[in-house]
Amino acid sequence: MQGQPVFIMQQGTTQEQGKTAQSNNIAAAKAVAQAVRTTLGPMGMDKMLVDESGDVIITNDGATILEEIDISHPTAKMIIQIAKTQEQECYDGTTSAVIVAGEVLKKCEALIDQNIHPTTICRGLRKGLVYLIKKLEDYEIHDIDLDKIAKTALTGKSADSFKDVIADICVGAVMNTENLEDIRITKALGGSAADSEIIVVFIIDKERSHPAMPTSLRKPLVALIDSTLGVKQTEIDANIQITDPTQIEAFLAKEEAELQAMAESFHKNKANVVLCQREIDDLVKYHFAKLGILALEKVTKTDMEAVAMASGATIINNVKDLTGTALGSFDHTEQISLGDLPILKLTGGKNEATTVLLRGPTTHFVEEIERAFDDAAGVVSVAQRDSVILAGGGSTYAGLSGSLANHASQEAGRQGMAMVALADALESIPRTLAENAGLDPVDEMMALHKAHSDGKKYHGINIEVGGAIDMRSLGVFEPKRVVEQALKSAVETAIMVLRIDDIISSKQKNQG
Ligand SMILES: Nc1ncnc2c1ncn2[C@@H]1O[C@H](COP(=O)(O)OP(=O)(O)OP(=O)(O)O)[C@@H](O)[C@H]1O
Ligand SMILES: [Mg+2]
Repeated sequence: MQGQPVFIMQQGTTQEQGKTAQSNNIAAAKAVAQAVRTTLGPMGMDKMLVDESGDVIITNDGATILEEIDISHPTAKMIIQIAKTQEQECYDGTTSAVIVAGEVLKKCEALIDQNIHPTTICRGLRKGLVYLIKKLEDYEIHDIDLDKIAKTALTGKSADSFKDVIADICVGAVMNTENLEDIRITKALGGSAADSEIIVVFIIDKERSHPAMPTSLRKPLVALIDSTLGVKQTEIDANIQITDPTQIEAFLAKEEAELQAMAESFHKNKANVVLCQREIDDLVKYHFAKLGILALEKVTKTDMEAVAMASGATIINNVKDLTGTALGSFDHTEQISLGDLPILKLTGGKNEATTVLLRGPTTHFVEEIERAFDDAAGVVSVAQRDSVILAGGGSTYAGLSGSLANHASQEAGRQGMAMVALADALESIPRTLAENAGLDPVDEMMALHKAHSDGKKYHGINIEVGGAIDMRSLGVFEPKRVVEQALKSAVETAIMVLRIDDIISSKQKNQG
């Protein structure tokens, strides 16, 4: 019987198999690693990303770069996922994780070319990873300096020149708050990053609602109200029948008296700062001003909640609920302006809440400072929680690489070759740090090998002048979790990529 060909896939479906699939996948992974390679380390460069609408981001942050570039290759997307996981788990080390993953795959490609089966390679990699995670304990440092951790994370970013100020703010903010999410960040143009500060609460972008209101108050008592301060609007349309012109005057006079009473009820309860989530009637504003009350209208819900938390005030819905206990207190309030941005500054609330004001001359700059701040605050909180750190500058990677290579020599056969490949791949971190600093990678790696074989396990790349140096003396530290997570995701993802021997892609819907 003559067999008819059987089609099990839709027309237009493409398929890549065996070595072609593997080498295409590896090429994609290498390309992603290549894209961020030059940004690694203190001397790393920045990238300028322009989207379809022409918006520009200038950044050094691995996760941001990879998130912004529009990538369609499925394996490249897997590598980008490494950066995302790294960012979520430990806030930093995204570039390193991607570089290691690309390098592991590159080294394994050579093994595939020598006809070593991917399954064998994967087994070797997995054994190697277990060894590395155990060995990492030898490099642990328990004497933790949060300030240095923050500074290491800020090195090489736009924030570098201001890292003393920003690191201080970072450590202060993390110490003040239980959750990183509770740190509110406010950005203002003008000034320099060195003018950034940490304050209890800000209401930004709001001017006091009447020019005759006070601009600063000591020991203010704050009332928070989330409904309109004005005449009650009836739900249904009502007609009022007037038979005599004096009635209209009486009606208006009554309304005015009501509004005045409304303003006075705040005064009676000793509130002298009123934050209203809705609008305030002009007449109420006028009476507030006469009574020396500083009032802001249309305050956002998040700002209202932040002030409530910091001052102990309750947000009320009706002026009738206004009592002394609903009020919150601060030490001081002041209406200031930064450039053309009016800001109400409230300091010394009874509960600590933290707002960080980041400043800089341009939007791009302030945004990059914010990303650096996020990384640094993240690693500080990780280091504080885990209380274990490592020396940076590629020292741990170099040390681990040496021990794994040694260990692999005891492993018989082809799995050992995969372990050696993994060991070699780890060197990509110190090597790239050296390359990006304009140093000769061969000389630097030789110096580093020498130091580590002499037992100097905290020696990394001296990016200023070259040669190996004890990173503890430079104060370059990173949380252990950053390196551990980078190793895990790089190796696991490499394994996942190597195990693929068939790529079946459906026809893209929007393609003709
Ligand atoms: N002064 C320094 N000398 C040598 N190496 C340093 C110094 N400061 C930081 N490093 C090293 O630079 C590397 C971090 O670089 P970078 O912050 O650019 O990348 P990342 O942390 O991997 O990714 P990202 O910050 O983009 O998420 C770490 O290996 C760190 O130890
Ligand atoms: Mg970093």
